[in-house]
Amino acid sequence: MRAWVNGDLLDSVDRPVLSVLDHGLTVGDGAFETIKATGGVPFALTRHLARMARSLTGLGLTPPDDGWLREGVAAVLDGEPGDLRVRLTVTGGPAPLGSERGDSGPTVAVVSAPLGDWPATTAVSTVPWPRNERGALSGLKTTSYAENVVALARAKQAGGSEAIFANTVGDLCEGTGSNVFYVREGEVVTPTLASGCLAGVTRALVLEWCDVVERDAPVDVLADSDEVFLASTTRDVQGVHRCDRRDLDAPGPVTARVMKVWEERAAADIDP
Ligand SMILES: Cc1ncc(COP(=O)(O)O)c(C=O)c1O
Repeated sequence: MRAWVNGDLLDSVDRPVLSVLDHGLTVGDGAFETIKATGGVPFALTRHLARMARSLTGLGLTPPDDGWLREGVAAVLDGEPGDLRVRLTVTGGPAPLGSERGDSGPTVAVVSAPLGDWPATTAVSTVPWPRNERGALSGLKTTSYAENVVALARAKQAGGSEAIFANTVGDLCEGTGSNVFYVREGEVVTPTLASGCLAGVTRALVLEWCDVVERDAPVDVLADSDEVFLASTTRDVQGVHRCDRRDLDAPGPVTARVMKVWEERAAADIDP
Protein backbone atom coordinates (compact mmCIF):
# COMPACT_ATOMS: atom_id res chain seq x y z
CA MET A 1 0.00 0.00 0.00
CA ARG A 2 1.20 3.48 -0.82
CA ALA A 3 -0.29 6.90 -0.15
CA TRP A 4 0.21 10.43 -1.48
CA VAL A 5 -1.53 13.32 0.28
CA ASN A 6 -1.58 16.93 -0.91
CA GLY A 7 1.65 16.47 -2.88
CA ASP A 8 3.61 14.33 -0.39
CA LEU A 9 4.35 10.65 -0.83
CA LEU A 10 3.98 9.18 2.66
CA ASP A 11 6.45 6.75 4.17
CA SER A 12 3.60 4.89 5.90
CA VAL A 13 -0.14 4.66 5.24
CA ASP A 14 -0.73 4.48 9.00
CA ARG A 15 0.75 7.89 9.81
CA PRO A 16 -1.99 10.45 10.64
CA VAL A 17 -1.91 13.25 8.05
CA LEU A 18 -5.44 14.70 7.85
CA SER A 19 -7.04 17.29 10.07
CA VAL A 20 -9.74 15.96 12.38
CA LEU A 21 -11.77 18.88 10.97
CA ASP A 22 -11.57 17.62 7.40
CA HIS A 23 -15.05 18.00 5.88
CA GLY A 24 -14.68 14.61 4.21
CA LEU A 25 -14.37 13.06 7.66
CA THR A 26 -16.95 15.13 9.51
CA VAL A 27 -19.78 15.24 6.95
CA GLY A 28 -18.74 13.14 3.93
CA ASP A 29 -18.14 16.24 1.78
CA GLY A 30 -15.94 14.91 -1.00
CA ALA A 31 -15.71 12.84 -4.16
CA PHE A 32 -13.70 9.77 -5.05
CA GLU A 33 -12.63 7.47 -7.84
CA THR A 34 -11.49 3.86 -7.84
CA ILE A 35 -9.11 3.20 -10.71
CA LYS A 36 -7.60 -0.11 -11.76
CA ALA A 37 -3.89 -0.29 -12.62
CA THR A 38 -1.79 -3.06 -14.10
CA GLY A 39 2.00 -3.00 -14.02
CA GLY A 40 1.98 0.59 -12.83
CA VAL A 41 -0.33 1.83 -15.62
CA PRO A 42 -3.84 3.09 -14.71
CA PHE A 43 -6.81 2.04 -16.86
CA ALA A 44 -9.15 4.70 -18.32
CA LEU A 45 -7.55 7.42 -16.20
CA THR A 46 -8.83 10.23 -18.45
CA ARG A 47 -12.45 9.09 -17.94
CA HIS A 48 -11.97 8.72 -14.18
CA LEU A 49 -10.50 12.22 -13.89
CA ALA A 50 -13.34 13.64 -15.97
CA ARG A 51 -15.89 12.00 -13.66
CA MET A 52 -13.99 13.27 -10.58
CA ALA A 53 -14.26 16.79 -12.00
CA ARG A 54 -18.01 16.30 -12.63
CA SER A 55 -18.58 14.98 -9.10
CA LEU A 56 -16.66 17.87 -7.51
CA THR A 57 -18.42 20.44 -9.67
CA GLY A 58 -21.76 18.86 -8.70
CA LEU A 59 -20.75 19.27 -5.04
CA GLY A 60 -19.80 22.89 -5.65
CA LEU A 61 -16.08 22.21 -5.11
CA THR A 62 -13.41 23.36 -7.55
CA PRO A 63 -11.71 20.38 -9.20
CA PRO A 64 -7.94 20.36 -8.65
CA ASP A 65 -5.73 20.52 -11.72
CA ASP A 66 -5.76 17.21 -13.65
CA GLY A 67 -1.97 17.27 -13.92
CA TRP A 68 -1.66 17.34 -10.14
CA LEU A 69 -4.05 14.41 -9.71
CA ARG A 70 -2.12 12.46 -12.37
CA GLU A 71 1.07 13.20 -10.41
CA GLY A 72 -0.48 11.66 -7.28
CA VAL A 73 -1.66 8.58 -9.18
CA ALA A 74 1.79 8.14 -10.74
CA ALA A 75 3.46 8.52 -7.33
CA VAL A 76 1.51 5.65 -5.73
CA LEU A 77 2.02 3.41 -8.78
CA ASP A 78 5.69 4.08 -9.44
CA GLY A 79 7.58 0.77 -9.39
CA GLU A 80 4.57 -1.16 -8.07
CA PRO A 81 4.08 -4.44 -9.96
CA GLY A 82 0.87 -6.44 -10.36
CA ASP A 83 -2.79 -5.45 -10.36
CA LEU A 84 -3.64 -2.58 -8.05
CA ARG A 85 -6.61 -0.43 -7.20
CA VAL A 86 -5.98 3.27 -6.82
CA ARG A 87 -8.33 5.26 -4.65
CA LEU A 88 -8.36 8.97 -5.40
CA THR A 89 -10.24 11.13 -2.88
CA VAL A 90 -10.78 14.88 -2.92
CA THR A 91 -12.61 16.48 0.01
CA GLY A 92 -13.69 19.99 0.96
CA GLY A 93 -10.69 20.14 3.32
CA PRO A 94 -10.62 21.49 6.89
CA ALA A 95 -13.89 23.23 7.83
CA PRO A 96 -16.11 24.20 10.77
CA LEU A 97 -17.92 21.29 12.44
CA GLY A 98 -21.27 21.84 10.70
CA SER A 99 -22.32 21.59 7.07
CA GLU A 100 -20.76 24.88 5.99
CA ARG A 101 -17.42 24.73 4.22
CA GLY A 102 -14.09 26.14 5.28
CA ASP A 103 -11.69 28.07 3.07
CA SER A 104 -8.43 26.17 3.58
CA GLY A 105 -8.62 24.43 0.23
CA PRO A 106 -9.24 20.78 -0.61
CA THR A 107 -7.63 17.62 0.69
CA VAL A 108 -6.34 15.36 -2.07
CA ALA A 109 -5.41 11.79 -1.14
CA VAL A 110 -4.33 8.96 -3.42
CA VAL A 111 -3.83 5.42 -2.11
CA SER A 112 -2.86 2.22 -3.93
CA ALA A 113 -3.63 -1.29 -2.69
CA PRO A 114 -3.77 -4.79 -4.22
CA LEU A 115 -6.77 -5.17 -6.53
CA GLY A 116 -7.92 -8.60 -5.36
CA ASP A 117 -9.87 -11.06 -7.49
CA TRP A 118 -13.58 -11.32 -8.13
CA PRO A 119 -15.00 -14.70 -9.21
CA ALA A 120 -16.53 -14.86 -12.73
CA THR A 121 -20.04 -14.96 -11.24
CA THR A 122 -21.72 -13.76 -8.07
CA ALA A 123 -25.00 -13.49 -6.15
CA VAL A 124 -26.93 -10.23 -5.67
CA SER A 125 -29.77 -9.13 -3.45
CA THR A 126 -32.29 -6.33 -3.96
CA VAL A 127 -32.67 -3.99 -0.98
CA PRO A 128 -35.76 -2.10 0.23
CA TRP A 129 -34.16 1.37 0.41
CA PRO A 130 -34.49 3.59 -2.69
CA ARG A 131 -31.80 5.51 -4.54
CA ASN A 132 -32.98 9.09 -4.78
CA GLU A 133 -32.67 9.95 -8.46
CA ARG A 134 -33.83 13.51 -7.66
CA GLY A 135 -31.37 14.13 -4.79
CA ALA A 136 -28.62 16.75 -4.82
CA LEU A 137 -25.97 14.02 -5.00
CA SER A 138 -27.64 11.89 -7.67
CA GLY A 139 -25.12 10.63 -10.21
CA LEU A 140 -22.15 11.98 -8.23
CA LYS A 141 -19.47 9.67 -6.84
CA THR A 142 -19.27 11.25 -3.41
CA THR A 143 -17.70 10.04 -0.19
CA SER A 144 -21.19 10.03 1.40
CA TYR A 145 -21.49 6.27 0.87
CA ALA A 146 -22.95 5.10 4.19
CA GLU A 147 -26.24 4.11 2.48
CA ASN A 148 -24.17 1.76 0.34
CA VAL A 149 -22.46 0.36 3.43
CA VAL A 150 -25.82 -0.49 5.03
CA ALA A 151 -27.21 -1.97 1.80
CA LEU A 152 -24.12 -4.08 1.14
CA ALA A 153 -24.16 -5.46 4.69
CA ARG A 154 -27.75 -6.58 4.11
CA ALA A 155 -26.89 -8.20 0.79
CA LYS A 156 -23.98 -10.00 2.42
CA GLN A 157 -26.27 -11.32 5.16
CA ALA A 158 -28.38 -12.81 2.37
CA GLY A 159 -25.27 -14.46 0.89
CA GLY A 160 -24.68 -11.97 -1.93
CA SER A 161 -21.73 -9.77 -2.87
CA GLU A 162 -23.75 -6.83 -4.15
CA ALA A 163 -26.95 -5.02 -3.23
CA ILE A 164 -29.25 -3.78 -5.98
CA PHE A 165 -31.21 -0.55 -5.54
CA ALA A 166 -34.43 0.55 -7.17
CA ASN A 167 -35.04 4.31 -7.31
CA THR A 168 -37.91 6.31 -5.79
CA VAL A 169 -40.35 5.27 -8.55
CA GLY A 170 -39.43 1.60 -8.23
CA ASP A 171 -37.26 1.37 -11.34
CA LEU A 172 -34.05 -0.65 -11.41
CA CYS A 173 -31.09 1.64 -10.64
CA GLU A 174 -27.67 0.20 -9.70
CA GLY A 175 -25.55 -1.65 -7.15
CA THR A 176 -23.55 -0.13 -4.29
CA GLY A 177 -20.41 -0.14 -6.44
CA SER A 178 -21.52 -1.43 -9.82
CA ASN A 179 -23.94 -0.88 -12.69
CA VAL A 180 -26.45 -3.56 -13.55
CA PHE A 181 -27.37 -5.06 -16.92
CA TYR A 182 -29.93 -7.73 -17.83
CA VAL A 183 -30.73 -9.80 -20.88
CA ARG A 184 -34.25 -10.51 -22.17
CA GLU A 185 -34.90 -12.28 -25.45
CA GLY A 186 -31.33 -11.63 -26.52
CA GLU A 187 -31.48 -7.88 -25.85
CA VAL A 188 -28.99 -6.43 -23.33
CA VAL A 189 -30.50 -3.59 -21.29
CA THR A 190 -29.16 -1.23 -18.62
CA PRO A 191 -30.97 1.60 -16.77
CA THR A 192 -30.61 5.14 -18.16
CA LEU A 193 -28.65 7.75 -16.21
CA ALA A 194 -32.03 9.36 -15.38
CA SER A 195 -32.63 6.36 -13.08
CA GLY A 196 -30.08 7.97 -10.72
CA CYS A 197 -27.33 5.44 -11.34
CA LEU A 198 -23.70 6.50 -11.49
CA ALA A 199 -22.30 7.00 -14.98
CA GLY A 200 -19.94 4.06 -14.54
CA VAL A 201 -16.75 4.07 -16.61
CA THR A 202 -17.20 0.34 -17.25
CA ARG A 203 -20.90 0.89 -18.12
CA ALA A 204 -19.95 3.58 -20.65
CA LEU A 205 -17.37 1.34 -22.32
CA VAL A 206 -19.74 -1.65 -22.44
CA LEU A 207 -22.30 0.66 -24.09
CA GLU A 208 -19.69 1.75 -26.65
CA TRP A 209 -18.27 -1.68 -27.37
CA CYS A 210 -21.39 -3.89 -27.25
CA ASP A 211 -24.96 -3.83 -28.45
CA VAL A 212 -26.75 -2.53 -25.35
CA VAL A 213 -29.99 -0.58 -24.93
CA GLU A 214 -30.49 2.02 -22.18
CA ARG A 215 -34.03 1.77 -20.85
CA ASP A 216 -35.74 2.18 -17.48
CA ALA A 217 -37.98 -0.57 -16.13
CA PRO A 218 -39.36 -1.67 -12.75
CA VAL A 219 -36.78 -3.48 -10.60
CA ASP A 220 -38.93 -6.64 -10.93
CA VAL A 221 -37.51 -6.98 -14.42
CA LEU A 222 -34.64 -8.87 -12.78
CA ALA A 223 -37.09 -11.57 -11.64
CA ASP A 224 -37.73 -12.76 -15.19
CA SER A 225 -34.55 -11.81 -17.05
CA ASP A 226 -32.65 -14.56 -18.84
CA GLU A 227 -29.29 -13.24 -17.65
CA VAL A 228 -28.04 -10.52 -15.30
CA PHE A 229 -24.54 -9.08 -15.05
CA LEU A 230 -22.68 -6.36 -13.17
CA ALA A 231 -20.08 -3.94 -14.49
CA SER A 232 -17.53 -1.99 -12.48
CA THR A 233 -13.88 -1.04 -12.35
CA THR A 234 -12.98 -3.83 -9.94
CA ARG A 235 -15.42 -6.50 -11.18
CA ASP A 236 -15.08 -5.73 -14.91
CA VAL A 237 -18.06 -7.67 -16.37
CA GLN A 238 -19.34 -10.22 -13.86
CA GLY A 239 -22.20 -12.68 -14.36
CA VAL A 240 -24.91 -13.03 -11.70
CA HIS A 241 -25.78 -16.62 -10.77
CA ARG A 242 -28.37 -15.75 -8.15
CA CYS A 243 -30.65 -12.76 -7.83
CA ASP A 244 -32.55 -12.83 -4.52
CA ARG A 245 -33.83 -16.43 -4.38
CA ARG A 246 -33.69 -17.09 -8.14
CA ASP A 247 -30.83 -19.04 -9.72
CA LEU A 248 -29.65 -17.93 -13.14
CA ASP A 249 -27.47 -19.39 -15.84
CA ALA A 250 -24.17 -17.50 -15.35
CA PRO A 251 -22.29 -16.37 -17.15
CA GLY A 252 -25.01 -16.96 -19.73
CA PRO A 253 -24.17 -16.93 -23.45
CA VAL A 254 -24.86 -13.21 -23.96
CA THR A 255 -22.94 -12.22 -20.82
CA ALA A 256 -20.03 -14.43 -21.92
CA ARG A 257 -19.91 -12.57 -25.25
CA VAL A 258 -19.87 -9.19 -23.48
CA MET A 259 -17.09 -10.47 -21.17
CA LYS A 260 -15.01 -11.53 -24.15
CA VAL A 261 -15.42 -8.20 -25.94
CA TRP A 262 -14.57 -6.42 -22.71
CA GLU A 263 -11.38 -8.43 -22.18
CA GLU A 264 -10.18 -7.91 -25.74
CA ARG A 265 -10.97 -4.19 -25.99
CA ALA A 266 -9.70 -3.31 -22.50
CA ALA A 267 -6.43 -5.15 -23.15
CA ALA A 268 -5.96 -3.29 -26.44
CA ASP A 269 -6.37 0.25 -25.09
CA ILE A 270 -5.21 1.39 -21.67
CA ASP A 271 -6.99 4.79 -21.84
CA PRO A 272 -10.08 4.24 -23.99
C1 LIG B 1 -22.64 3.55 -7.03
C2 LIG B 1 -21.75 3.03 -8.12
N1 LIG B 1 -22.32 2.64 -9.29
C3 LIG B 1 -21.57 2.16 -10.29
C4 LIG B 1 -20.19 2.02 -10.16
C5 LIG B 1 -19.37 1.48 -11.30
O1 LIG B 1 -18.57 2.50 -11.86
P1 LIG B 1 -17.17 2.21 -12.55
O2 LIG B 1 -17.43 1.30 -13.70
O3 LIG B 1 -16.71 3.56 -12.99
O4 LIG B 1 -16.29 1.58 -11.55
C6 LIG B 1 -19.57 2.43 -8.97
C7 LIG B 1 -18.12 2.31 -8.82
O5 LIG B 1 -17.59 2.13 -7.76
C8 LIG B 1 -20.36 2.96 -7.94
O6 LIG B 1 -19.81 3.37 -6.79
